[in-house]
Amino acid sequence: MSERVEEFRPPQRLLLGPGPSSVNPRVLQAMTQPVLGHLDPVFFKCMDDVYDMLCRLFRTSNKMTLPLSSTGTGGMEASLCNVLERGDTAVIAINGFFGRRMADIARRCGADVHTLEFPLGTAIDPNVVEEELKRHSHVKVLGVVHGETSTGILSPLEELCALAHRHDALIIADTVSSLGGHEVAVDDWDVDICYSATQKCIGAPPGLAPVTLGPRATDAMRNRETPVQSYYLGMADLETYWSNTRAYHHTTPISMMYALREALAMMVEEGLENRIERHARCAAALRAGLQAMGIGLFADPAHHLDPLTTAVIPDGVEDTNVRTRLLDDYNIEISGGLGETRGRIWRIGLMGDSCREVNVLALLSSLERILPGEGFAVEPGSGVAAAQRSLVAA
Ligand SMILES: Cc1ncc(COP(=O)(O)O)c(C=O)c1O
Repeated sequence: MSERVEEFRPPQRLLLGPGPSSVNPRVLQAMTQPVLGHLDPVFFKCMDDVYDMLCRLFRTSNKMTLPLSSTGTGGMEASLCNVLERGDTAVIAINGFFGRRMADIARRCGADVHTLEFPLGTAIDPNVVEEELKRHSHVKVLGVVHGETSTGILSPLEELCALAHRHDALIIADTVSSLGGHEVAVDDWDVDICYSATQKCIGAPPGLAPVTLGPRATDAMRNRETPVQSYYLGMADLETYWSNTRAYHHTTPISMMYALREALAMMVEEGLENRIERHARCAAALRAGLQAMGIGLFADPAHHLDPLTTAVIPDGVEDTNVRTRLLDDYNIEISGGLGETRGRIWRIGLMGDSCREVNVLALLSSLERILPGEGFAVEPGSGVAAAQRSLVAA
């Protein structure tokens, strides 16, 4: 007996959460191209393009630069497990949910992990990190999250790189929420290992995790005493597929690679600096609009992460009511807090293709319509007008 299964037809949403961000139709279109074999010479051209454009995005000439077949967590896992061995010392600076995940993974690698906790909503303080590095005879890895998506904070990565190297430690930087939305200069800042994910400021669907390893990191990897415990994420073997050898490692998610290539091409066409400026301009307008409506910001204003704004939910307003109305009545997704901030903050993403002036205005006007019904008085137009002023002044 044959049976009919209904087609799955998802609605067209505006994704203004912490990722995934909305994907441009041009990128989706690229995914409908014929699937090639992963050892087809025509596909190698796609890989070469992805390599070249990832190097431009990371601002690096590192040979070992490639997109892992995984989401951002796979990038985190690969970055840690390729250099850490049982008994190595790692210091992980934590100012939110993803720093804590990094520490968890480092422990699973068998490392002796020392964590440094910073208050939620504040940046990693390099002076405090340096004191911790001084306390140990040899720290192999310093792990930091550049853009902490759980709190909306950007930490000073360039400074953290310099201090890691003063103490002969490798630095691993999570740029899942910052790459493509803020400056990330892998070679100039001397970042040893940097990873990201496709679904945020890069503007492709979730599914690949770009990663780059500099010379210190590749040396550490090659001088390991024990093999990397993960076959799938072992960078040395993966590189044989990405280098001229093109030896099979695992079957590449071909259509995702087309998507990444197209999203990177759009980035090159826009210009990385223009793209970063767009993220700054839209985030400033959003923050101005929220504040004009009487909604407070959670993150330390000196360290705002432009792609992700955290807003304090006004007293008496029910988090899920507002988000449900946004989704059901306006087709807009924003997110609630993660971990300790659940029910206390909203996380609003303006990332990649979602990061547009018109989307800032759409969200603010929707909130102006929803909040009075949830017991929070808002002057109609106040948020939109403040955002407009910010955009005009930019
Ligand atoms: C800063 C940061 N690191 C790591 C991750 C994990 O990425 P994924 O959910 O793609 O595995 C995220 C996801 O939001 C993130 O924001």
